[in-house]
Amino acid sequence: MILSIESSCDDSAIAITEIATKKLLFHKKISQELEHSVYGGVVPELAARLHAEALPKILEECKPYFDGLKAVAVTTTPGLSVTLVEGVIMAKAASIALNIPIIGVNHLIGHIYSLFIEKEAVFPLTVLLVSGGHTQVMEVKSLEEIKTVAKSMDDSFGESFDKVAKMMHLGYPGGPVIEKLAKEGDRKKYNFTVPLHQSPLIAFSYSGLKNSVRVALEGASESDYKDIAASFEHVAVAHIIQKLKKYFKEVPPKTFAIVGGASANLYLRSQIEELLKPHNAKLLLSELKYCSDNAAMIGRVGVEMYEKGLFSPLNALEICPKSVI
Ligand code: KG4
Ligand code: ZN
Repeated sequence: MILSIESSCDDSAIAITEIATKKLLFHKKISQELEHSVYGGVVPELAARLHAEALPKILEECKPYFDGLKAVAVTTTPGLSVTLVEGVIMAKAASIALNIPIIGVNHLIGHIYSLFIEKEAVFPLTVLLVSGGHTQVMEVKSLEEIKTVAKSMDDSFGESFDKVAKMMHLGYPGGPVIEKLAKEGDRKKYNFTVPLHQSPLIAFSYSGLKNSVRVALEGASESDYKDIAASFEHVAVAHIIQKLKKYFKEVPPKTFAIVGGASANLYLRSQIEELLKPHNAKLLLSELKYCSDNAAMIGRVGVEMYEKGLFSPLNALEICPKSVI
């Protein structure tokens, strides 16, 4: 069995995964959304303190599995440095106390493997990762062959929802609340410009759209919020669709997947489904409960890395806040 720990942002999560069957034997996540909500975003020091409280409580519940553990997998990159450290300290302590090796896991690869919880992995895949920290398209051939072909130059897709919700004083995280509000609104009411629509680049940018929403909100009343949310969501998704369309002209998709917390967005899912139809491409999605950050996906990668012997020496295990993929 693999013990896995996730603390890259605002979710404290631990899982136990059986190596041979990939079965998830235990998974618990304590989310900090409520605590950060009043600030309209994640406060790193508060997040670190809450991880320090939550992780030991969850680990206590894993005691019955300790005897059968073969390794501990922990998110080491990317994420907030002060929160990544909390998970890594716990992993190092578990490694020493239980005499098991450590596996350092890339959180983004974790999101890719959220597609394969309790399942065999299937590659090759074109993957769109949309989360609070990332908007990126990757060509994935295997665990070790992942090529990023497009990413955001500034804010991410999920982050732009968080910032728009903050401007409307709707708390954190912004994705679900903006999606709900958008359902009641008119997507065409505000004519926000699709980012980078004239640029030949296959890349993403959300800071300009966020600023356009800020300007629209200045002259708006609360009754306009639903139309602003709907128009914003429409353009945020249209941006992804436009860039994917361009990319698919070069590299037609065969199997496409959407992962990450914001992959829960139903409007995004439906627009991508439409985009894939003429290509006859298959769409893979993670189960809703594994879209946002969790330790099951870290454990799933842990199993793959364990089988390949990809361990990190205790002294060399370091966090890396910026993504290397
Ligand atoms: O993957 P995740 O849990 O954490 C990171 O790795 O960043 O993603 C969280 C992000 C937040 O920005 C949240 O607002 C966004 O995903 N999100 C959504 C939706 N649900 C969550 N964005 C748009 N629509 C949603 N339904
Ligand atoms: Zn994530």
